[in-house]
Amino acid sequence: MSKVKIGFSALVMLIMMSIFAAMASAEEFTPTPSNPAPGINVGTIDNNGQVNQHKTHGNFQNNTNSCGNCHSTHNGDSATLLKFEETEADMCLTCHDGTLGFYNVLGQGSGAGTFNTTHESASMHNVGTVEIGSAPGALDNTSTEELQCSSCHNPHGSTNDRLLKTTVAGVTYTTTPIKLQLTEDPAFAAINSSSTNSGLKITKSVGPAGSTDKVNYANFCSTCHDTYDTGSGKETALGHYSHTTNSSSAGRNCASCHYAHGTDITLLKDAAGKTIADYTKSVADGGEGWTEETAINYMKDVSAGGSALKKYTNMSVCWTCHTSSHPLDTPMPAQVGDPNAGTGELWNYVWSSRYNKYIPTFNEKANIR
Ligand code: HEC
Ligand code: HEC
Ligand code: HEC
Ligand code: HEC
Ligand code: HEC
Ligand code: HEC
Repeated sequence: MSKVKIGFSALVMLIMMSIFAAMASAEEFTPTPSNPAPGINVGTIDNNGQVNQHKTHGNFQNNTNSCGNCHSTHNGDSATLLKFEETEADMCLTCHDGTLGFYNVLGQGSGAGTFNTTHESASMHNVGTVEIGSAPGALDNTSTEELQCSSCHNPHGSTNDRLLKTTVAGVTYTTTPIKLQLTEDPAFAAINSSSTNSGLKITKSVGPAGSTDKVNYANFCSTCHDTYDTGSGKETALGHYSHTTNSSSAGRNCASCHYAHGTDITLLKDAAGKTIADYTKSVADGGEGWTEETAINYMKDVSAGGSALKKYTNMSVCWTCHTSSHPLDTPMPAQVGDPNAGTGELWNYVWSSRYNKYIPTFNEKANIR
């Protein structure tokens, strides 16, 4: 019985993947679990003789052919025997450009954002063109190595989700594995049900899962941006003050405000959590019925510094928290000791016993992680 089941789901998967392949590239190629990309073959029988799709990254079996996806024994293009056109990223993109159907880092559906350069308000980690030590906020990080996909990911496997490295730019920032909040991608139910636990599962991410993961994720980003890892009210080693970036609560970690790969106008949200797609949808479909042009002009990032991998356009992320349900032109009821009490100032303060000072009110229920 179970053999029939595998056969059927494999068939469904074949059909599904060929649809995606047809959409992604003009060339005729039908990915299968054992042949996920052109010229690339991984196995389907594991060390115990069971049907179990090998992973491309890690979970290497004793009959593996996975190394050949990325390495050439005698004809490599780098000292690490990699096969690529110009940079290592090209090699990663032979699969992660939509070819596989899933984990398309040039698309719009990834929890890491996008590396797509073609839309307005785009910004990203410019892999292959910059030095790691050029990261804003870098002080201890003086690395002259090129920023690459493998600066952040370990293509051979990792205890962290999404193959995140545990040592970045020479710093081991955590010994506790980072767990992301992953759910199986329903679009790939056939693959997910045809593989065993150690095999291939296609998942969607919404970022770091628990409190420790959020802090460790901030520590991960801060291996390169080392002085940006900070709490409120503390002067950094570069002599600046920063918003809290390493808190596990109330959405004050890097992942609350930034994507890891990059952003563009199709991903940017406003303080209401809405995107261009929400505004252009017809009113009948729950949208606002705006024209594409109106929505783009509204969502455009006009910051002098660019869109900086942000999840929210401009400085709107600030307004997701530092506001309340009160309409803006209605002064909020005076708080005891509020420096703005009675002045009609819109900005409101509350006393924080934790910080022993007045802090701007913020909305604990803001829809931000
Ligand atoms: C998905 C692509 C990919 C696969 C599959 C892969 N590697 Fe690598 N490998 C890389 C990259 C990228 C580097 C360079 C990493 C760096 O510079 O940090 C690398 C580096 C290496 C190195 C140099 C030491 C190091 O870790 O930096 C060795 C050895 C190596 N790989 C062996 C293997 C073997 C053996 C296999 C198969 C079991 C394999 N690789 C599979 C991408 C891959
Ligand atoms: C041969 C095609 C191929 C190449 C080349 C490739 N990948 Fe992948 N990648 C896959 C497949 C297939 C998956 C799905 C899970 C698996 O097989 O490990 C995946 C999954 C991933 C994931 C998600 C892992 C998870 O389990 O959540 C990351 C991150 C990733 N790849 C990064 C990279 C990076 C970085 C490179 C370049 C060094 C690269 N990939 C090169 C095929 C490829
Ligand atoms: C600055 C660090 C960094 C760099 C550089 C980077 N990544 Fe990632 N990547 C991440 C992080 C962090 C995540 C997990 C984000 C999340 O889900 O919250 C991720 C997620 C992914 C995923 C899973 C996407 C999904 O749909 O959930 C893939 C695939 C991937 N990266 C491939 C790549 C490739 C290919 C490159 C180079 C072109 C690259 N990454 C460069 C940090 C990086
Ligand atoms: C391996 C080192 C490294 C890690 C890890 C890293 N970054 Fe960066 N980051 C850089 C470098 C180098 C630059 C500057 C070059 C560039 O713009 O691509 C940069 C630039 C940025 C920028 C500014 C981009 C712009 O358009 O001005 C932001 C925002 C950013 N990183 C956020 C993050 C976040 C969030 C994380 C964690 C998910 C992270 N970084 C992890 C190296 C890193
Ligand atoms: C509360 C939201 C928020 C958090 C949390 C946050 N950032 Fe930012 N970040 C922003 C905004 C907004 C900008 C752009 C405007 C500005 O710089 O004032 C920005 C800009 C940046 C830049 C571009 C250079 C610069 O300073 O303008 C880098 C790099 C960066 N952030 C990295 C990080 C890292 C790394 C973390 C976590 C340690 C982090 N950010 C946490 C909101 C945030
Ligand atoms: C996820 C909710 C959230 C977001 C988003 C947010 N803040 Fe805050 N902010 C807080 C909290 C909570 C405090 C109280 C101090 C602390 O715990 O960091 C605070 C404190 C402050 C302070 C007082 C100084 C300090 O560090 O204590 C200022 C000023 C401030 N925020 C401005 C901003 C700006 C500007 C943005 C947009 C870049 C922003 N906030 C985004 C929650 C948020």
